[in-house]
Amino acid sequence: MKKKALFEVYRQDNKDTDGYFREYLLVIDDSISVYDALWTIRNELDTSLALPYFRCRKGVCGSCLMRINGIQRLACRIPVRNVLGDDGVVRVTPPKGRPILKDLITGWGEHDEV
Ligand code: FES
Repeated sequence: MKKKALFEVYRQDNKDTDGYFREYLLVIDDSISVYDALWTIRNELDTSLALPYFRCRKGVCGSCLMRINGIQRLACRIPVRNVLGDDGVVRVTPPKGRPILKDLITGWGEHDEV
């Protein structure tokens, strides 16, 4: 079912800058994954949004781990309809415990470089 969803997506240029949220309004099939919705934003609304790319999309690699409305989840495995609240907002931030390289791209440990 097509639904309107307001994505609040965490943006940060690099580890030394402050982060902020940018809003994107999508009208999308709510059965698509949050990960695919983020790629729709990247491809159709804002090519500057940095997203992890080499991903399995099957819940195996763990690379798409993000906080979605405050809960750590694999973005490729969670349909938008499962996280879309009554307010129509989906807030996406990087996972806790990983260094932010840019926007939603994170490293795995302290030795990652920007
Ligand atoms: S893309 Fe591999 S777990 Fe989501």
